[in-house]
Amino acid sequence: MLASVAEYRIAARRRLPRLAFDYLDGGAEDGDALRRNSGAYGQWLFKPRVLTDVSRCSSAMHFFGREAAAPLIVGPTGLNGLFWPRADELLAQAASRANLPFVLSTASTSLLEDVRAAAPQGDLWMQLYVQQDRGIAEDLMRRASAAGYSTLVLTVDVPVHGKRDHDTRNGFRLPLRLSPRLLADCLTHPRWTWQMARAGSPQLKNIAKSVGEHADLSRHAAMLSRQMDLTLGWTDLEWIRRHWSGKVIVKGVMGVQDALLAVAHGADGVVISNHGGRQLGSTFAPLELLPGIVDAVRGKTEVFIDGGVRRGSDAEGRRARRARRVARAGAAVWPGFSGSRRGQRSARADDGGDADFAALAGMPGNRRSGSGVCRARWFTWSGSGLTRASGRPV
Ligand SMILES: Cc1cc2nc3c(=O)[nH]c(=O)nc-3n(C[C@H](O)[C@H](O)[C@H](O)COP(=O)(O)O)c2cc1C
Repeated sequence: MLASVAEYRIAARRRLPRLAFDYLDGGAEDGDALRRNSGAYGQWLFKPRVLTDVSRCSSAMHFFGREAAAPLIVGPTGLNGLFWPRADELLAQAASRANLPFVLSTASTSLLEDVRAAAPQGDLWMQLYVQQDRGIAEDLMRRASAAGYSTLVLTVDVPVHGKRDHDTRNGFRLPLRLSPRLLADCLTHPRWTWQMARAGSPQLKNIAKSVGEHADLSRHAAMLSRQMDLTLGWTDLEWIRRHWSGKVIVKGVMGVQDALLAVAHGADGVVISNHGGRQLGSTFAPLELLPGIVDAVRGKTEVFIDGGVRRGSDAEGRRARRARRVARAGAAVWPGFSGSRRGQRSARADDGGDADFAALAGMPGNRRSGSGVCRARWFTWSGSGLTRASGRPV
């Protein structure tokens, strides 16, 4: 039995060949931004309150009017079929069982209609990359809407792909080419190799279908990496509104100015995100930017955050710093592909952690720390206090 996301990560490293694990696990350049993301949570400690009646702690929350078991969303990750066949369907099922929303990437390897069939009751969201041929995005939105996806997540931090040293070193390119190194990797990971041999190479099936072509990984991966629409701007949210009637969230916002622009252009939410530190090699951790952005857009739009969240205490730390929700992408993928049966079924590695953590920290009734609880920036908090590891009280 594995006890934490960190342990699922180790199991995934054993199960996957290096090239696939590094793609899943690594950050831009040599990983500075990625390390900063999780390091930011380590900077904050809780100062618990006691005897506060924690009998009603619950981590349940509403996302746009629909209840979820926790303030967590299984975020979008492209190319999941590289880790296991039908991985998008398995993840959507796990999220649905855990009563959490699941976001399907444009770069997914299962048809969005098949993902819906695998999780008929699930709250499914669609992530959108916009390519030069806008007809592809328009068709994806039409199909996702017809399949009952509730929310569109427009990712705006990938005009070009981040440079990742580990992918360069590993010779990572799509489709995978059988080099002596990859062959050795395959031989030492026979279960993965057997599954891949049976299922065939993963394909970017949704792009292929919306382009109206047969699946061709090298062609469609090249479209994603070299044919993104570099002219995309804020006014294009109006174009999206013409093709999507559900909620629209902008993912990849890292500053107050852009968050305000998202509000001005009618976004229903923003995700403070640096793409898990996979795009820009040196940048802030989303957690560091959270208070300023929430101060600026409070009450005008929903604020989500991702990057480096690995435990219930991280999620509560983020709540104490005032974002309402967390999208936990890497963390959800690790239990999915570690090979553990429980991991494959569970989209959350530390089930129940959030509510238990709230009880330990003395948060009565698991009060929402969003509005009214953290006041005067983050220096006073009427429930438990958060303290930076250096000792500065908050
Ligand atoms: C393997 C992998 C693939 C990803 N693919 C996408 C994607 O297709 N679209 C997207 O918007 N974000 C993508 N992301 C970024 C995540 O949605 C999320 O922003 C990031 O992983 C959060 O950081 P964390 O991994 O530390 O939780 C990907 C992340 C990983 C790890």
